[in-house]
Amino acid sequence: MREGTAPLIRREDYSAPAFWIKSVDLTFDLDPAKTLVINKMQLERNLDVPAQALRLHGEDLNLTRVLVNGESVSFRHEEGLLVIDSLQGVPAGPFTLEIRNTCAPEKNTHLSGLYTSGGGFFTQCEAEGFRRITYFLDRPDVMAVYTVTLRANKQQYPVLLSNGNLVEQGELDNGRHFAKWNDPFPKPSYLFALVAADLVAREQWVTTRSGKNHLLQVYVRRGDLDKTEHAMNSLIASVVWDEARFKLPLDLERFMIVAVGDFNMGAMENKGLNIFNTKYVLANPATATDSDYLGIESVVGHEYFHNWTGNRITCRDWFQLSLKEGLTVFRDQEFSMDMAGSASARAVKRIDDVRTLRLSQFPEDAGPMAHPVRPDSYVEINNFYTATVYDKGAEVVRMMQTLVGRDGFAHGMTLYFERHDGSAVTCDEFAQAIADANPQSELARLLPQFKRWYSQAGTPRVTARGRYDAPSRTYTLLLEQSCGSTPGQAEKQPFVIPIAMGLVARDGRALALQLEDEALPASGAYPQERVLVLSENREFFTFVNVDEEPVPSLLRGFSAPVTLADGLSDNDLLLLLQHDTDPFNRWEAGQRLALARLLAAVRGDGDLQLDQPFIGAMRGVLTHPTLDAAFKELLLSPPSEIYIAEQLESVDPQRVHAAREAMRMQLAQALRDDWAVAFEANQATGGYAPDPISVGKRGLANLALNMLCLDAVARGDTVWPGRAYQRFKDASNMTDRQGALWALLASHSELAEPALARFYELFKGEPLVIDKWFTLQATAPESGGRVFARVKALMNHPDFTIKNPNRARSLIAAVCMGNPAAFHRSDAAGYVFWADRVLELDGINPQLAARMARVMDRWSRLAEPYRSAAREAVSRVAAKPDLSSDVREIVTRALA
Ligand code: PHE
Ligand code: ZN
Repeated sequence: MREGTAPLIRREDYSAPAFWIKSVDLTFDLDPAKTLVINKMQLERNLDVPAQALRLHGEDLNLTRVLVNGESVSFRHEEGLLVIDSLQGVPAGPFTLEIRNTCAPEKNTHLSGLYTSGGGFFTQCEAEGFRRITYFLDRPDVMAVYTVTLRANKQQYPVLLSNGNLVEQGELDNGRHFAKWNDPFPKPSYLFALVAADLVAREQWVTTRSGKNHLLQVYVRRGDLDKTEHAMNSLIASVVWDEARFKLPLDLERFMIVAVGDFNMGAMENKGLNIFNTKYVLANPATATDSDYLGIESVVGHEYFHNWTGNRITCRDWFQLSLKEGLTVFRDQEFSMDMAGSASARAVKRIDDVRTLRLSQFPEDAGPMAHPVRPDSYVEINNFYTATVYDKGAEVVRMMQTLVGRDGFAHGMTLYFERHDGSAVTCDEFAQAIADANPQSELARLLPQFKRWYSQAGTPRVTARGRYDAPSRTYTLLLEQSCGSTPGQAEKQPFVIPIAMGLVARDGRALALQLEDEALPASGAYPQERVLVLSENREFFTFVNVDEEPVPSLLRGFSAPVTLADGLSDNDLLLLLQHDTDPFNRWEAGQRLALARLLAAVRGDGDLQLDQPFIGAMRGVLTHPTLDAAFKELLLSPPSEIYIAEQLESVDPQRVHAAREAMRMQLAQALRDDWAVAFEANQATGGYAPDPISVGKRGLANLALNMLCLDAVARGDTVWPGRAYQRFKDASNMTDRQGALWALLASHSELAEPALARFYELFKGEPLVIDKWFTLQATAPESGGRVFARVKALMNHPDFTIKNPNRARSLIAAVCMGNPAAFHRSDAAGYVFWADRVLELDGINPQLAARMARVMDRWSRLAEPYRSAAREAVSRVAAKPDLSSDVREIVTRALA
């Protein structure tokens, strides 16, 4: 935490370090109250930059000694830095610097640096946590080889881990033992890790293509071993996939995953020693839902894939964060899609990813925290681990793949590793490598302009107008783009926007796409799908030999992170919903039909009356003979309240909630019999498996049960709630159990209470399940303020603690972000609650506090009385004098 007014750090101010650190030898005497760190470094002056004093980062440390080449030297402290002036003119060539310091892991509530959790020691160094362990050039372009010796009490800390390979271990006096690790790969300090704890491991040997054997390990607390099979399987699948798809092998003899219960984020890709939030490791059918299983697969993949995209090639500076994050999210998305298998299962994954983007990144891009994928400045880097850097960054990589093709992209990756393996580079260098490997591509032709995706913030808006000319049998599409201003960027230059598209005839046929003056392709037929590249503010695309007026299906597969206004009518959308060959656009058509009705109700008199064509279309989906269950579930779930709110100029969250609930109720009533059939028809049989077909069935059955209970409770019928309660009791897996409990909660059934009590009794020893128990209660549909009152009462539950990030999120973030109708109250009690929690958390864990603070990003779009009350709450937080720089940056931007 940097208190006071922390400075703004700018990308354009980058300069190479004045010194390099070639190697580090670290020794830790681990003690929760006071850990001794002996840090012996080999340094060299960087002769490419003017001579300067050595300035090492350090935070919350006690310095006990400094030796240069074995001799003591004088030093001084500057704001967060240790300065050794005498090194300014040091001769070229290596010298040693030995530093001794102590730190206090058990007092480290920030969970950054070295901290304790559940009686063990763990580290988290990204982005700037290493400086909380020892003095260092804590920046990603300084890459060193690490040797690490850990010493600790053997009984309390039987497992001692660090990066790389174990080279030595043995006994010490006084019941202590030691382990010495060496990581042969030079790495930036943010990838350092150590673990000392009482853990057990699931182990698996694998042989990679080169014939080398590798040991994979998943470390967890005693008692959790039965929840590690899926993480291990996901790890094995990741190893296999990266070799098959990108020819990237595992480069370590040993690859370890360690689960920890106190963790700020999802997981961390430390070289050879990934540290994970337990949420993304532990799963068995009784405790984890299908979406937990999918989350584990993607996060295990993500961290593993970082080994090449992040670790072997890392970031020159933190402005380049998306170099590793955008690319690695893209890679984990592709991995999950390839794992899903069928075209329909791939589409389900793509739709999920787009939903996430729209739910978190679009609002970010439209609010006070909007920033380019490669930001230009920050106060606190931890605030820039954002949906923009991660998820929009992944979309930028995906657009490159769309522009050069899948094989071309794989070649680009190969060139990227040929050029930059072992170094710290920038986003420019990545884009250049992909383009250079594909010199004939549109990406190469338009590269400087394409890179505006890295430099310009904001979500572009594409407008499309089609005109059919019967006499000439031509169809002309006018595409236009614009992008609103964002903080610090008033005017935008046009983007390069790949628009995958097709034309659909009235009878549902896909039409051949022949552009004006275009010769017949070698295949002998014009394609039925193609990618138009929009790079001007407005461009015409004329298709010839079009026999009838088509319906355009644009932005297939969500080929660019933009919003699209194509002016399609209800009839057009109904046609696409039925016939589009692109599953994403089929889903999108259904969502747009629902959204139009919801917006009309919210903007109008608040009343929602579903029309027969819409209900008929939804019935057609639900009863469709061949559509996959997962796809039906997505199609039949109305857009979220947050997404609806984003379409409005002035948001009354209560009206949005009421309209959406009305839609759910009418769909429940109108399709009652079909829901019942769907429920019966989608009972997954056999043992639990998280495969796409079974996941889809459970998802649709749970949605059906939810709708059946909603309708039944409204009619005073107790049969379906009774069945839901029975299913809740008898469920053989968490997906069904939670689904049944949710059906009772979301329909306000009287059986929800006893079910909640029973759920707690069953799982009180399982922290991750108790998190679910809190979240279910915090996200239940609000009625008369009861949900909010319950959340406040739950703050005093003996199992609640704000200090554990998962638990804090399970209740506080759940209600503030996941339950708009409970949070946005006309009496402002939700905002008061929010401000109190942010202020409380700020003294404990500023990173977590800053994430919670972002709940209020969109306050200025609220309608009165919410708007004024929300601003007041943000101002109250901003007024705290000793606020962390983390939270200060967020609230300052919000109020700007
Ligand atoms: N680098 C981690 C990831 O994306 C995320 C992370 C950032 C974790 C900062 C901890 C701290 O995989
Ligand atoms: Zn990552």
